[in-house]
Amino acid sequence: MRAIVLEKFGGLDSLVIKEIPEPEPKAGHVVIQVKAFGINHAELHMRRGEWAEAAPVSGIECVGLVKSCPGGEFPIGAKVAALMGGLGRTINGSYAEYTCAPVSNVALIEADLPWAELAAIPETYATAWTCLFRNLGIEKGQLLVIRGATSSFGQAALKMAVNAGAHVIATSRNRDRFAMLEKLGAERCEVERRDLSKVIPEAKKIDAVLDLVGNTVMLDSLAMLQRGGRSCLAGWLGGLDPIPDFNPLLQMASGVYLTFFGSFVFGTPGFPLSDVPLQQIAADAAAGRLDVKPTRVFRFEEIREAHRVMEANEARGKLVVVHA
Ligand SMILES: NC(=O)c1ccc[n+]([C@@H]2O[C@H](COP(=O)([O-])OP(=O)(O)OC[C@H]3O[C@@H](n4cnc5c(N)ncnc54)[C@H](OP(=O)(O)O)[C@@H]3O)[C@@H](O)[C@H]2O)c1
Repeated sequence: MRAIVLEKFGGLDSLVIKEIPEPEPKAGHVVIQVKAFGINHAELHMRRGEWAEAAPVSGIECVGLVKSCPGGEFPIGAKVAALMGGLGRTINGSYAEYTCAPVSNVALIEADLPWAELAAIPETYATAWTCLFRNLGIEKGQLLVIRGATSSFGQAALKMAVNAGAHVIATSRNRDRFAMLEKLGAERCEVERRDLSKVIPEAKKIDAVLDLVGNTVMLDSLAMLQRGGRSCLAGWLGGLDPIPDFNPLLQMASGVYLTFFGSFVFGTPGFPLSDVPLQQIAADAAAGRLDVKPTRVFRFEEIREAHRVMEANEARGKLVVVHA
C-alpha cells in the first residue's frame, strides 16, 4: 500500500510517499481502508521530533471502511472513525491507504456526508465536545470564553456551545477575524492578549473558559472566572514552554477550577470513545444543524503542502486529506 512515511525528524521533506506492506489483521484491532484524514498539530510536533514518540507512519485520526475485524466488533464495510489509541505515535497511523487501530479507538460514523466532511469530525469534534460538556459542564445560558477561537478546534467548540445555548465570547489576535467568529455565533469578540482578564468587561462574571492558547495565559484564564467557574486547558497555540516561576500563592485565583483534557486518553478506562456522541455529531452535520466542512481539502500527494499551510497559520479551519 502507499503510505506517507516519516523518513527523519525535520521539515516538510521528511514526509515521503512509499510502498509499505498493508497492516495485518490482529485481535483487538480493526483494519480500516482510510478514505480521508484530518491534519493535526500533534502530527507537526511528531514530524519535527518535538515529542518523545512518533511512528514511521504519522496520522492520529481517519475515517474509512472496515476491511477486517477479527473480533467482530465492527461489521466489514462499516463506515468508521478512528482516533488516538497510539495511532501515529506508538503504532503506524492514518497517513496511508490502510491503518490498523485498536477497537477501543474506533467508532461507527454512519452519516451521509462526503468523506472530506466526515474526516473533519473525529479528533476535533470529539475533543471539543469532551472539553465543553464533560470538563466544563457547559449548560444553556452560561457565559463561555473561547481563547484561540479561530483555530479549527475553537470553531468546532464555538459552534457546539452556541447550539447548546451558551453565550460565547471568542478571542483572536486578529480583529479581521471577528466577523467570521460572529457569523459562527459568538456574541462578541476580544483581541487575544496575555492580560485579557484585566480588560474584559465580563471579568468575574464568566462561567467557563476553553483555553486553547495554553500555558502563556493559563493563569489569566483562571483570573477572569467567577467563583466556582472552570477553565479547561486543552490547546497550546501560544507555545509549549512551561509556566515560568509558577507560584500558586501569589498567582492563583481563588475559588475557581482548573481542568485539563488531552485526547490521548480516548479509549482508556474512564474515557471510552462511546462517551462521545460522534454519530450524533455526524447526523447533525448531515442534517445541516452543524457545519463541519473543512476549509481546505488536499490530495494524498499534497501532504507537504497541507503541513505547510497549518505551520504557516493559514488553515483558518480544519484541513483534511482525501484519497482519490
Ligand atoms: N487537548 C487536546 O487533546 C487537543 C486536541 C486537538 C488539538 N489540540 C490543540 O489545540 C490547539 C488548536 O489546534 P487546531 O488544530 O485547531 O489549530 P489551528 O486550526 O491550526 O489553529 C490556528 C489558529 O491558532 C491561532 N494562533 C496561532 N498562534 C497563536 C498564538 N501564538 N497565540 C494565540 N493564538 C494563536 C490563530 O488564531 P488568530 O490568528 O486568529 O489569533 C490561528 O487561527 C493546538 O494547540 C493543538 O495542539 C489539543
